[in-house]
Amino acid sequence: MCFSEVTYMQKLIITGSNGFVGSALANNLKENYEVTCLVRHGSNINLLSKNINIKYIDYNNTEVIMELLLGQDVLIHTAALTRAKRWQQFKQINIDLTEKLIEFYNKTSSLKQFIFISSQAAAGPAPDKSTPKLESDKCHPVTRYGKSKLLAENLIKEKAKKPWTIIRPVSVFGPGDKDFLQYFRLIKKHLAMFIGFRQKYYNFIFVEDLVEMISKTINNGKAYNETFFARGTDVLSIQQFVHNIENVMNAKALHLHIPQFLLYSIALVSEILTVFSHRPPIVNREKIKEFKGEYWLVSNKKTKKILDFETTENILDKLKITYQWYKDKGWI
Ligand SMILES: NC(=O)c1ccc[n+]([C@@H]2O[C@H](COP(=O)([O-])OP(=O)(O)OC[C@H]3O[C@@H](n4cnc5c(N)ncnc54)[C@H](OP(=O)(O)O)[C@@H]3O)[C@@H](O)[C@H]2O)c1
Repeated sequence: MCFSEVTYMQKLIITGSNGFVGSALANNLKENYEVTCLVRHGSNINLLSKNINIKYIDYNNTEVIMELLLGQDVLIHTAALTRAKRWQQFKQINIDLTEKLIEFYNKTSSLKQFIFISSQAAAGPAPDKSTPKLESDKCHPVTRYGKSKLLAENLIKEKAKKPWTIIRPVSVFGPGDKDFLQYFRLIKKHLAMFIGFRQKYYNFIFVEDLVEMISKTINNGKAYNETFFARGTDVLSIQQFVHNIENVMNAKALHLHIPQFLLYSIALVSEILTVFSHRPPIVNREKIKEFKGEYWLVSNKKTKKILDFETTENILDKLKITYQWYKDKGWI
């Protein structure tokens, strides 16, 4: 091989890399980057490809973190709590850990970009169907999770001394996801549940499309110090989304609508029943705040313009891939 053909493979280090989004990132990006997966001791690594470079970490061990970051080019921070019982838990993981990583980022000279996986929840819902949220709009998070993500974003903007990029994905589905899995499981039992009777509209993104979008920001000067929403093409009501799942599963479900006033009692009872559990129940009072938003819609104009990114949507094909994966893994 001629010496000039030897190219340097950029080094990426990913927090939360055993999670749904983190593992999809790590598994896909390892083709083009030297990827290091940061995983907490004892965590489940089933979603990660075999032979991937895993480093076990205790985020309280400053020395080890500094050592692992040394020589890395890009840090992608996906680790987060998406559900928690108390604000303090959101604060510790979503805000304080981000702040700590920003301090390490500033101190590690090899690192050139900090990519933060935030959430649409940081911005809050749109006012109506024809006015999707823009990145430049004022943020009105409605949940504690959303607030914690927004505060983390603000910390990054304030404290990072080098380029950062913030990505705010909408609801992500695909292989490895445990949230939409619940819909698939219920539909298998010929049931689908909806909150209230009014149509609510959402954007969704397939996890592999999200990976592609994020990859377009890596080492991309146009993405430095910018915030982007990440969404697929479609605007769907949750009923339409469920209908698509029914189609790919070739199943018909009974559609049950739970009146919004009943939901609060259900959430309260669920919270009481899980009082000794570490994780909050799926239906909790925070979730109700989210359900109240009718238009979880964001604009994709900025990603199209700056990153030249747009998904080619055939949501049915993407749901088919997801369904097949759930079946192959025995999740369904
Ligand atoms: N999934 C979505 O629809 C969606 C939408 C918008 C934004 N996001 C964002 O995408 C990112 C990944 O979400 P996800 O859906 O992949 O969630 P996930 O599957 O629950 O993964 C979360 C990751 O964070 C790690 N983590 C949790 N608590 C931690 C702690 N105390 N210290 C260090 N690491 C901790 C987990 O590690 P352990 O396994 O060790 O707990 C796991 O690797 C998050 O930042 C989330 O806010 C997700």
